[in-house]
Amino acid sequence: MSDFKVVDGTATPPGPDDAAAIPALHWAGNPEWAYGGGLFHIACDYRLMIDNLMDLTHETYVHADSIGQKEIDEAPVSTKADGDEVVTSRFMHNIMPPPFWRAALRGNHLADDVPVDRWQICRFTPPSHVMIEVGVAHAGHGGYDADAKHKAYAIVVDFLTPESEHSMWYFWGMARNFNPRDKALTAAIREGQGKIFSEDLGMLESQQRNLLARPGRELLSLNIDAGGRNSRRILERIVAAERVSAEQ
Ligand SMILES: [Fe+2]
Repeated sequence: MSDFKVVDGTATPPGPDDAAAIPALHWAGNPEWAYGGGLFHIACDYRLMIDNLMDLTHETYVHADSIGQKEIDEAPVSTKADGDEVVTSRFMHNIMPPPFWRAALRGNHLADDVPVDRWQICRFTPPSHVMIEVGVAHAGHGGYDADAKHKAYAIVVDFLTPESEHSMWYFWGMARNFNPRDKALTAAIREGQGKIFSEDLGMLESQQRNLLARPGRELLSLNIDAGGRNSRRILERIVAAERVSAEQ
C-alpha cells in the first residue's frame, strides 16, 4: 500500500490515467438494456478465473443442467489475439437450447422448443476483464447477426479483482437488450447466473487447493486453453513492464 498516493483524502493506486483503457459499459444508463449482477469472494488465483472464462468448454461438464450441452464440446473454437485483447469464439448451429437459454427465449416471448443457433464470444482485456457475448437465435434467421426479434442476446460481465495471490473478488453480471423493463426476468436471470457462477466457484477453489497441495505440478494446457494462455501472456508482459518502470 506504500505506493498509493493520497489525493483529497482518498487513496488511489499508482498507474497511468488512461480513460481509453477503461472498458466502455455501453448498456449502463441505456433504457434498452437491463443489468443484474452480484459479487463473490473466491479463494483462487484470479488467473484461474481468466482461464475458466476464456474456455467455455467446461460448461458441458460444470454447468450440465443449465447452460451445458454436448454440442459445446463438439463445436470448434477460434482464438485471436490482437494487441492487448484476446477473443475466443464458438458458434453452434441448429441445436436445441439448454434450460437457461430456453428460459431466456421465453423471457423474450419466443418459442423455446425449436432449434437455435448459439454463440459464445469471450473477450479478455487487461488487467482482468472478461466480457462474453452470449445468446441464441431461432435457427435460420442469421444466428449472431439475426434481428433482435428472433434472439436472446446478452453480455456476461466479469470484473476480476485480485485480493491476494490465492484469492479474488468476482464482480459478475449480465446485461441484456431484450425485454429490459421486466424486473422479474432480471431477477430470474440473476438468480440463474448466480447458481451457475457458484458452480465455477466450487470448481476453482478445488483447482486452487490441488495446485497448492502439489506445488511441483504444472497446469496442463490443451488447444482449448489458447484463450487463457494468450491472456496470461499479455498479463506477464504488462507486469514485467510495470516492474521495469517501477525500478527506474
Ligand atoms: Fe463456468
